[in-house]
Amino acid sequence: MSKRVALVTGGTGGIGGEICKKLAQQGHKVVANYLPALKDEAEAWQKQMKDEGFEMDIASGDVSSFESCAEMVKDVESRVGPIDILVNCAGITRDKTLRKMEEKQWTDVININLNSVFNTTRQVVEGMTSRGFGRIVNISSVNGQKGQFGQANYSAAKAGMHGFTMAVAQETAAKGVTVNTVSPGYTATAMTDAMPEDVRNAIIAQVPAGRMGSTKDIAFAVAMLCDEDAGYITGANLPVNGGLFTSF
Ligand code: CAA
Repeated sequence: MSKRVALVTGGTGGIGGEICKKLAQQGHKVVANYLPALKDEAEAWQKQMKDEGFEMDIASGDVSSFESCAEMVKDVESRVGPIDILVNCAGITRDKTLRKMEEKQWTDVININLNSVFNTTRQVVEGMTSRGFGRIVNISSVNGQKGQFGQANYSAAKAGMHGFTMAVAQETAAKGVTVNTVSPGYTATAMTDAMPEDVRNAIIAQVPAGRMGSTKDIAFAVAMLCDEDAGYITGANLPVNGGLFTSF
């Protein structure tokens, strides 16, 4: 199994952390990105990973800033090596109905969930295409596919991510680089824990699988798309939502 360098944004979070573990189990050298202000938390996460038997690297970078991402990628490539796998997993929610949504709640979500994908991918695409190998996976959401009450900002950003996926997939397919989207449903993390309990329970009651997703469910899909053998899957959206929303 060839060892690749994988950068996972939001890598110290719930879904991101599980993706880091799965890629590490597959023999990759994994770097988890964290927000500069959360250095102490990231170091604690790294130590916890070590206790669990995982050697993870960490890299500071604000994904909403192009300059910060440029510095982060330069730092990772000099310390660890050229990035072959990029998983764009950093994201936030600022749920409000549109009539109550403030401009900052809109721009923060667009900057951190959507502009981030440009800010990171732009830094690595040249290297991947010139080396003839790359795997880019953008973590979107079922709510990008179907829209969600209270999430005009989040739904717009997550839908936009897949537009980016489809375009860049076409630009890079001839150079051995795949670009795909994974769209999780409601997954047990701090993000869904923060929802009003009654709203969460009502949504989960509609999931045909009868349960929330686990972070392992999502990491499995991401690892599959990052596999060496997944080279002909590009521009795709892979829903992992327990049947909550089906389409083709
Ligand atoms: N459909 C229709 N009506 C709804 C509704 C829905 N899904 N949800 C709430 N309403 C209604 C309420 O019953 C209430 O009606 P009344 O005024 O008649 O009593 C009204 O809408 C509430 O509207 P408000 O403008 O007052 O909204 P609020 O300030 O109370 O906040 C909310 C509402 C913040 C959107 C809250 O419902 C909420 O947090 N919803 C969850 C949104 C959600 O799914 N977030 C996902 C987070 S996890 C994630 O995003 C990960 C992922 O990728 C899946």
